[in-house]
Amino acid sequence: MTTISQVSTRNAWANALAQPAQEFPLTPLPVISGKIPTGIRGTLYRNGPGRLERGGSRMGHWFDGDGAVLGVHFTSTGAASVYRYVQSAGYKEESLENRLIYPNYGMVAPGSIWDRLFKGLKNAANTSVLALPDKLLALWEGGKPHALNLQTLETLGEEDLGGLTTGLTYSAHYKRDAATGEIFNFGVTPSLNSTLHIYKSTASGQIVQKAAHTIDGVPVLHDFVLAGQYLIFFISPVRLNLLPAITGFSCFSDALEWQPSKGTQILVIDRQSLEVVSRGEAEPWYQWHFANGYVDASGTAIVDIARYEDFQTNQYLKEVATGETHTVAKSHLSRVSLNPQTGKVTKIEKVLDSHCEFPTVPPENVGKVSRYTYLSTFRPGTDISKEVLNALARYDRDTDTLTIASVGENCYPSEPIYIQDSENKDKVWVITVVYDGKFNTSEVWIYDADKLDAEPVCKLELPHVIPHSFHGTWKPN
Ligand SMILES: [Fe+2]
Repeated sequence: MTTISQVSTRNAWANALAQPAQEFPLTPLPVISGKIPTGIRGTLYRNGPGRLERGGSRMGHWFDGDGAVLGVHFTSTGAASVYRYVQSAGYKEESLENRLIYPNYGMVAPGSIWDRLFKGLKNAANTSVLALPDKLLALWEGGKPHALNLQTLETLGEEDLGGLTTGLTYSAHYKRDAATGEIFNFGVTPSLNSTLHIYKSTASGQIVQKAAHTIDGVPVLHDFVLAGQYLIFFISPVRLNLLPAITGFSCFSDALEWQPSKGTQILVIDRQSLEVVSRGEAEPWYQWHFANGYVDASGTAIVDIARYEDFQTNQYLKEVATGETHTVAKSHLSRVSLNPQTGKVTKIEKVLDSHCEFPTVPPENVGKVSRYTYLSTFRPGTDISKEVLNALARYDRDTDTLTIASVGENCYPSEPIYIQDSENKDKVWVITVVYDGKFNTSEVWIYDADKLDAEPVCKLELPHVIPHSFHGTWKPN
């Protein structure tokens, strides 16, 4: 049991993860300040680990937490919110027995090595969401998506999208081309040399084309980029020691090795044929996330990433689950220029000195040049070894300026989500879910995207704490 003195000495952000989050049914949200812009019509969906504990046992890594999805619906009568755990088979089984049963990214299964031998991971369904016309998908890169009801977030079951046959996985970082409606994604089947599966779907999510390519060992492939006519993968030099991981001697995370001598492998795929255009190699780095990519007039692919010098970021994210971090893991928004025909990297530039995570561009700019990049960062002066992301920002490449949203001491905004106003196409809003560590409450904040350094135009009160989450999306009505 947690004592009051323990709570008061804990980092403000850690209280959001200390207890399992509480689900709630569709609940109208009171306005705390300002008013909801009338052009905001649609739903914000976010996914993240809702609980990191079961039956008195803690999970091993932030990535292990059971996925819980938040929906905030905006209609003419105001905002209403619903929050539900994804009812995966593993979640239901562990819930029924009130104990952890399965291994995951950062934990082995409980019990003896014989109990753990070859035991498959639980689908945590905790990483992102994909809003399709008739369903919401909760995504997790180690398994299949789970379909949810768009309104109630009731879990409907695993989804194969008409093409995810047995053993195929579907990553959390799909790329949607706003002009064609096509959705691109990938999944990795681990082996001595793994298979990278590439998927192309229609706007409704139906997979219509697949390809499979061999990649070296078992890397950590979390994201990729659409850049003009190419799908580009940067395969950082992290590799899994397969045997301890599949036998259950070691969890996946602990079996990962930083092998900088391998360099970063570049893989360029043609978006029409899904065939390999080129493979190349560059200096070692690690990235979880790409911001965006495009091809310039000279045919050079320009790719922006949140770049780390090594894989210490994984250790930091493991520590987040304990409520106390020590590891410094700094990333920068970096721009990689490469020749897509040869896979040769020609230039790497640091775009921003500030820490950068969850970088995104407006949906209509995915795969094309974008003036603005939205991202999460730290407030200037933050001790980044002890804190989690505590600021939002917009980078303007035309003026080379970064505008930081001021959220205040001990407040933690989620990844910024871009909303185009439904009444005025030139008006843009940024929506985020803020955990206020001073009062142990969560709120929805809406900013004018052109005035991120001003007060939010509206704050809404959520009924319960929403723990720090990973990724979300906006689905206009
Ligand atoms: Fe991610």
